[in-house]
Parts: sequence; structure tokens; C-alpha cells
Amino acid sequence: MSAGRSLLTRRRGNVWVRSGIILLVVFFIWVQMNFLTFTNTSVQNQEYTNESNAIFNMVPSVLHKFLTPRPRNTTHSNGTVINTAYKPILNITEIKKVIAQYNLQQTVHNEDIFGPLQNDSVIIVVQVHDRIKYLRHLIVSLAQAQDISQALLVFSHDIYDEEINSLVQSIDFCKVMQFFYPFSIQLHPNEFPGADPNDCPRDIKREEALIKKCNNAPFPDLYGHYREAKFTQTKHHWWWKANRVFNQLEVTKNHTGLVVFLEEDHYVAEDFIHVLKLMESTCKTSCPQCNILSLGTYLKTFSYYGDPKKKEVMRTIKQQAILNAAQMQPSWTFQVLPSLYQHSQKVAITAPFTTD
Ligand SMILES: *[C@@H]1O[C@H](CO)[C@@H](O)[C@H](O)[C@H]1NC(C)=O
Ligand SMILES: *[C@@H]1O[C@H](CO)[C@@H](O)[C@H](O)[C@H]1NC(C)=O
Ligand SMILES: *[C@@H]1O[C@H](CO)[C@@H](O)[C@H](O)[C@H]1NC(C)=O
Ligand SMILES: *[C@@H]1O[C@H](CO)[C@@H](O)[C@H](O)[C@H]1NC(C)=O
Ligand SMILES: *[C@@H]1O[C@H](CO)[C@@H](O)[C@H](O)[C@H]1NC(C)=O
Ligand SMILES: *[C@@H]1O[C@H](CO)[C@@H](O)[C@H](O)[C@H]1NC(C)=O
Repeated sequence: MSAGRSLLTRRRGNVWVRSGIILLVVFFIWVQMNFLTFTNTSVQNQEYTNESNAIFNMVPSVLHKFLTPRPRNTTHSNGTVINTAYKPILNITEIKKVIAQYNLQQTVHNEDIFGPLQNDSVIIVVQVHDRIKYLRHLIVSLAQAQDISQALLVFSHDIYDEEINSLVQSIDFCKVMQFFYPFSIQLHPNEFPGADPNDCPRDIKREEALIKKCNNAPFPDLYGHYREAKFTQTKHHWWWKANRVFNQLEVTKNHTGLVVFLEEDHYVAEDFIHVLKLMESTCKTSCPQCNILSLGTYLKTFSYYGDPKKKEVMRTIKQQAILNAAQMQPSWTFQVLPSLYQHSQKVAITAPFTTD
């Protein structure tokens, strides 16, 4: 990350050079981990119980609203309000206009309730694509985090979606702000930075690409592959978002505190802000040259360490996940449920912090 770090520092100017602790947080989730392979096929074939009941029982009832899809209300021309499903209603030109407004206005919701951002408040920036099911659970976890009411929660979207907006705007436990990545595939479906018809196929040979004269033919990546818009979007969005938070927002002008970067499929522990503050103060004395901290990592990386003890931990967690899965009944929530709601696993995961 050293290139990234210096880029951020350079662009930020004084405030961030002095303080800049950026927290790359990968606060766990196995959502992306595919290791939940069920060896016992009878588990897979068991009858499903009511998935929503199982989840709802583990979430305080005041937070159920974040897990429940809300109908979209539209006002009919005769004045009656009717519920309709969310579906795309704006065309690209209109979406561009709407997001330009959002990005210009920089509205901070709930500021009236929670007060203005302090210079040392935690800013939590969530990169959002289109996985609203995961986002619902992240929001539930954030709602339960200690001291969340002091934080500013920022959502950076690369898709304009009414249902996601409605969910984000229903957050009532802290200050909330949204902005939209303007160079998204949604807004450039047939051209760079989306997928252009003349883009080179990912796996084409360089010589063939040169003959074909497809876009960027002379420059495959390190591994000989060509650009895939959906993956580059994620990375471009990440940097755009970081620059926006550090350099461009009015609300962050005087901010010198921590910035936490999360993604829609992450999940935070109740004490993550507390732990963050501990890490910050420890960092000042033990590692003054550090300006990136990591609160967690994907478990998948544990296996790379090659440490037999950690492998053992991993194996236990895996077995436990399968056990819990057997009790919970399989469904998409399987990948989420055992990891999100089992405390024993949370404890096991918190093992070593890694800094890049
Ligand atoms: C699951 O539970 C919810 C709420 O109790 C209920 O509305 C729904 O019909 C149930 N679904 C099934 C498949 O039983
Ligand atoms: C739609 O209207 C109902 C009833 O007035 C309300 O409870 C619900 O929150 C509204 N939904 C949205 C998305 O505004
Ligand atoms: C308004 O329009 C809706 C949809 O056409 C209809 O169901 C409803 O009865 C109308 N209400 C009035 C007061 O005319
Ligand atoms: C998008 O919608 C607006 C308003 O409905 C319309 O004026 C415009 O022509 C549409 N643009 C495209 C590209 O369809
Ligand atoms: C933060 O604000 C307080 C009071 O508003 C001020 O005393 C303090 O010096 C500020 N800290 C930094 C690092 O700017
Ligand atoms: C930043 O600090 C300046 C000078 O103290 C002040 O005028 C301005 O209102 C502050 N901006 C924010 C967003 O707090």
C-alpha cells in the first residue's frame, strides 16, 4: 500500500500529512468466502425453515426495519398514494442529473439530531454496489455499534438505485451522507469506463489484439490480460471515493480523525469504534510512522500464513460453521448467518491485526 499511502498524503495537504490515519477495514465477513462447502449432502437437502424468522430472532426488533423491504410509495395524479415495486424509472440522462445534484449538495442527513461533525469523529465510508441484502446486514451491525451516534456514515454508490437510496435514507442512528461515483458502468454502458464494443477480450493474445486493433491492444496487464470493466470499476471507485472524502467534501474540511473504509458485504463488531480508538492511541506511541491500520482481514488470507496454529483455528471455525449451518438450515443466509451471529467465531477471528 505504500504507493497508495503516499498518493493520499500528497493530495491531502497539511491536515492529513499530520494526522492521516487511514483505516482499511476489512471487517469480516465470510460473505465472500466460499469455504462453506457442505460435505454432508443431507444437510443441503433438509427442509428449509423460515429464513426470515431465523434471522429476525437474532436482531433486536427495533432494527427489523432495516431488513424488511419497504414498498415504494408513489402519488397518483389523483392524489392517492399507491405502493409499487422498485424498478428503474430514470434514464441515464436523468440519473446523471440527479447524482450531480447529490454530489453538489453534499447533504448530511440527521445533523439536526446528532450535531455537526467534530474534528476527531470517526468517518465511516461504505462502498456500495448492488447487493442490498448484504447492505441491510451491514447497517444492522453499524446500528448496534457503540458510539455510532458520533460518527458520520458515508455511502459511496456506483449504482443509482431507488431501493438502496430508500434504505440508506431510512438510517436514523447517526449522521448520513451519500455520493455517487460518476464514471460508473451504469452511466456508461457501451463506452469507457464501461465495456466498449471494441474492448479487447480479457484473454486474447497480445499479437492477436494488435491485429484486431481493439482498445488498448498494446497494453495488457502484468498477466497478459485485458481490462474488465466491472473489476476496474471497483478499483477506480475506491480511489475516487478516497479522494472525495479527503479533498473535496465541505464537511471533512477540518476533520483530522479516523476514516474507516468498508464495503457493502462487510459486517462490524459492536466494539469496532472502541477498538479503533485503542489502536489509534497505541499507534501514536508504538508506530508513529504508521498511517494505515487494518481492523480485520478476510479469513481466507489466514491460510496463506502457513502457521499451523492458525490453520487449526481456521479448521475449527470451518467445522463450527458447518455445524451451525446444519442447525440453521441452508439458504443464501448460510454464508452470512453463522459468521455474523456466532460470537464464538467473532472471538476467534480477532486474532492478529495485519498492517500492509
Ligand atoms: C416466514 O415468516 C414470516 C413472518 O412471520 C411470514 O410472513 C412468512 O409467511 C413466513 N414464510 C414462510 C415460507 O413460512
Ligand atoms: C410508504 O407509506 C407507508 C404508509 O404511509 C409508510 O409506512 C412507508 O414508510 C412508506 N414507504 C416509503 C419508502 O416511504
Ligand atoms: C385514484 O387512482 C387509482 C388508480 O387508478 C384508483 O385506484 C383510485 O380509486 C383513485 N382514487 C380516487 C379518489 O379517485
Ligand atoms: C430521458 O428522459 C427525459 C425525461 O423523461 C427525456 O426528455 C429524455 O429524452 C430521455 N433521454 C433518453 C436518452 O432517453
Ligand atoms: C479540534 O477542535 C477542538 C475544538 O473545537 C480544538 O481545540 C482542537 O485543537 C482541534 N484539533 C485539531 C487536531 O484540529
Ligand atoms: C472549518 O474551520 C473554519 C475555521 O475555524 C470554520 O470557519 C469552518 O466553518 C469550519 N468548517 C467546518 C465544515 O466545520
